[in-house]
Amino acid sequence: MFADGFEAESAGFTIWRDQVQPAIAAQCSSCHLGERFGITTLARQGVTFTAAETRSNYEAFLRQISLDAPPSSRLLAKLLPTCHAASLPHAGGNGLVAPGDALHALLITWIE
Ligand code: HEC
Repeated sequence: MFADGFEAESAGFTIWRDQVQPAIAAQCSSCHLGERFGITTLARQGVTFTAAETRSNYEAFLRQISLDAPPSSRLLAKLLPTCHAASLPHAGGNGLVAPGDALHALLITWIE
């Protein structure tokens, strides 16, 4: 634990930095990269994420997940096909992931 109150390298942060953030950047960046009013996005000034950006992006996306009920996380609900009971409307489209997809599996692993 550091003076800023964060665990240095929790497992959740490591998976975020090495796998989840790059996956979201690759698949969702057309709408979720850079400053956008009112929605959760990844901050990145340069070509790669700085350590500070990775940290604040992690904090922002943690607010989109439910540790008590991982499959019901907003982050997943926004992406599911509308036929799925847990789905929420998403202006970026629904059905971006389905249970069984690589990204869905990665997000579940991260959240859990
Ligand atoms: C075509 C543009 C577009 C794409 C692509 C897109 N989104 Fe979105 N997303 C939006 C918009 C606009 C909103 C805000 C309105 C809403 O909640 O539907 C949003 C909202 C969200 C929210 C809720 C955020 C909040 O602050 O309430 C999450 C989580 C999310 N998107 C995740 C993703 C992920 C993960 C991907 C990639 C797999 C993705 N989105 C791809 C446009 C997009």
